Amino acid sequence: MSFSDKVITIERHIIDGERAHPGATGSLSGILRELSLAFKIIYREVSKAGLANILGLVGRENIHGEQVKKLDAFADEKIFETMDHGGFLCVMASEEHDDIIPIPPEYPTGKYVLLFDPLDGSSNIDVNAPIGSIFSVYRRMTPAGPGTLQDCLQPGYKQVAAGYVVFGSSTMFVYTTGDGVHGFTLDPSIGEFVLSHENIRIPAKGKTYSINEGYHEYWPESMKRYIAYLKSNDTAGGRPYSGRYIGSMVADIHRTLLTGGIFMYPGDSRSPQGKLRLMYEANPMAFIVEQAGGRATNGTQRMLDVVPAALHQRTPVFLGSEEDVDLCERFMRDRGAGPSGGNG
Ligand code: AHG
Ligand code: MN
Ligand code: MN
Repeated sequence: MSFSDKVITIERHIIDGERAHPGATGSLSGILRELSLAFKIIYREVSKAGLANILGLVGRENIHGEQVKKLDAFADEKIFETMDHGGFLCVMASEEHDDIIPIPPEYPTGKYVLLFDPLDGSSNIDVNAPIGSIFSVYRRMTPAGPGTLQDCLQPGYKQVAAGYVVFGSSTMFVYTTGDGVHGFTLDPSIGEFVLSHENIRIPAKGKTYSINEGYHEYWPESMKRYIAYLKSNDTAGGRPYSGRYIGSMVADIHRTLLTGGIFMYPGDSRSPQGKLRLMYEANPMAFIVEQAGGRATNGTQRMLDVVPAALHQRTPVFLGSEEDVDLCERFMRDRGAGPSGGNG
């Protein structure tokens, strides 16, 4: 991963990428360009959230039974407004909308589908911890006309682009179109996302694990054994690992992508499918992690191979460095005491 020494904006990077694909029509570039605008608008609100009375709740629940925060609703609205008229999309879907979101009839439709989590890490908004937005892009399946639920319910390996923005100590836009993973840092002085992390590669093995330990009692025994193994003392084997859990998937996975290790949100005795949503959290992050050389699974199969049945379906998530996910899988497959000695 080389830090760029000249100002390459995300627009320039997208156009360069497009030139590498002569058949490109520019629509995918248009989507990424418009999304970067939406993320700058959200950044402006996030960066003054404490001042702009944008904290707190809007007083309603979403389909997941979660209280919708003002910033969730704001981000959802801004992404829709930015993306609905460019003629790139035939349909959208958002965590904050029960059903698919049609393109308004006054606008042209295009050949792509956009699914998004407008504001990830909502519980962290009011405490100034990192939050973000996540998106996933597919080609439409239906031939023409308004996009349908079928266009949205595609397995993750069919994604043509995925990415996220993370509002942290700096604001970074990370995306892949299947040609590696690239990170851009917002330079507020020029209002541009500038290439700062070209061709991000996740380390083959890390030293950090990320999971909500508060749910330990609800985990399957195999999960308890795996986490106990990571915490056991074996300096030669690189253990104990450090525990890091921010509670924003986008921030926990951004750290995992850059420094290695494993992020987990397992199913448990209360929620067998866990909490995270397949279509606009797990799949886009799985595409990115695989493109960076890592792995992503739901515990029984490759995440990107899961055939979705519903827009907001949840899935257990295990993703990160290849060797860490491999070992985690061995513990989960081996109902016994886990790999003998777990020699890594
Ligand atoms: P969202 O704010 O979009 O609902 O997502 C929150 C998710 C995800 O960001 C994070 O990994 C997870 O919730 C944290 O859940 P717990 O608080 O149960 O650990
Ligand atoms: Mn989320
Ligand atoms: Mn969300």
